[in-house]
Amino acid sequence: MTDIFLNPDLSADSRYVWHPCTPLTDIESVAPLLIERASGVYLYDAEGNSYLDAISSWWVNLFGHNNPRLNAALKNQLEKMAHVMFAGVTHRPAIELAKKLIERTPENLQRVFFSDNGSTSIEVALKMSLQFWKQTGKEKKNRFVYLKGGYHGETLGALSVCGIDLFRKKFEDVLAGNIEVEGPDCFHCPFSLNRESCHAECFESMEKVLTDQNSAIAGVLVEPLVQGAAGMKMYPPIYLKKLEDACRSMDVHTIFDEIAVGFGRTGSLFVCESHGLQPDFLCLSKGITSGYLPLSVTLTSEKIYSAFYGTFENLDWFVHSHSYTANPLACAVANETMNIFAEPNFFNELNEKITALNVSCAVLKKMEYCGEYRQTGLIGAVELQKKDGSAFAFEERVGYQIYLEGLKRGVFMRPLGSVIYFMPPLSISTAEIDFLVEVAHKSILTVMEK
Ligand SMILES: Cc1ncc(COP(=O)(O)O)c(C=O)c1O
Repeated sequence: MTDIFLNPDLSADSRYVWHPCTPLTDIESVAPLLIERASGVYLYDAEGNSYLDAISSWWVNLFGHNNPRLNAALKNQLEKMAHVMFAGVTHRPAIELAKKLIERTPENLQRVFFSDNGSTSIEVALKMSLQFWKQTGKEKKNRFVYLKGGYHGETLGALSVCGIDLFRKKFEDVLAGNIEVEGPDCFHCPFSLNRESCHAECFESMEKVLTDQNSAIAGVLVEPLVQGAAGMKMYPPIYLKKLEDACRSMDVHTIFDEIAVGFGRTGSLFVCESHGLQPDFLCLSKGITSGYLPLSVTLTSEKIYSAFYGTFENLDWFVHSHSYTANPLACAVANETMNIFAEPNFFNELNEKITALNVSCAVLKKMEYCGEYRQTGLIGAVELQKKDGSAFAFEERVGYQIYLEGLKRGVFMRPLGSVIYFMPPLSISTAEIDFLVEVAHKSILTVMEK
């Protein structure tokens, strides 16, 4: 294998490009992979080396790269129209997608607002919620509650409901004063319970905030079942049920952020729909186009929509837009994505892969460095710890070292701190799952036993 770290084509990249979420010193010592093509679950670099895309290219890819069905849907739409504005104009791909989404999400959700990435779909939900309360006589409801470890994007509004210091720290002084609540922490449960049988006793801190500050609270944001950026922290659905009951009785909106977990990742199309929950807002993005094009949606109820009928002069309508709202190419691919999910055997086959991942990961569970192995659907994560059971410090960057080891062996991972996780395309085969886990295992041991 040629040296992936010394590719001369990268000089222009280092001269002109600023990469996201990447320390500048890393990019100087380890150049980015120059990916030239992708097919199925594999990425191929300029020298023809392959890397299994273990994290679906930042959790977006569902059915593999260069998928013939999705390519055809995109080409077909491209020949008709690439883009048109969406105020005063509509088009068939958007109408079809809105209908499909409404049919496959909880019945209280009746309206679809389009935008173009996960963070903006959150911004839309926050603004709609605030404006709803203003226009229904509860203008003091202007703060949001979010969970410690929660992540909803990195624009300033989304950051103001982020429960991870890493992202907030440099902007704390300009963020809106929302309220952070201790969320579920099943690995280190403060009640010493276990997530399979607990009754979400940890909900008490949320209940207290909702009760004590009710008149000021517009809504609560959660990533249902899996807090992704926090390190794939997983918690049971009972927490969401308690949240829904409390918010409904206290006149507080529930905002479900299924941007990462939606579209099959947990083994069903959406968490809310499979657990009989009815959030006031549902934010979706990432997998919505199977990882092809940027698109997002914020779904909400007819009750909320109707509150925006006021007068023109009072600006009671929703004054919010993005240039690429409901891009027709993205909507066309999203429609084909929804068609794939509607295939009769889809979820049975997915369940077999979920079991295969669990079986394959037995080798990781047995490692003395495994603090916890957790899995929800096709998302599996190992939280590493030292032999004596203590946690790795942030600065030790064990995850980053494992990432580099994985690359040498043909797997592209992107650990979160000391949590090594897999969120592969749903189209991955069981043989590819075994390969992925084997490489992760070897890479972990290489770094741990250095
Ligand atoms: C749960 C969740 N919400 C929101 C976002 C933000 O999405 P985007 O990166 O498209 O702005 C992400 C991205 O990782 C996410 O995981």
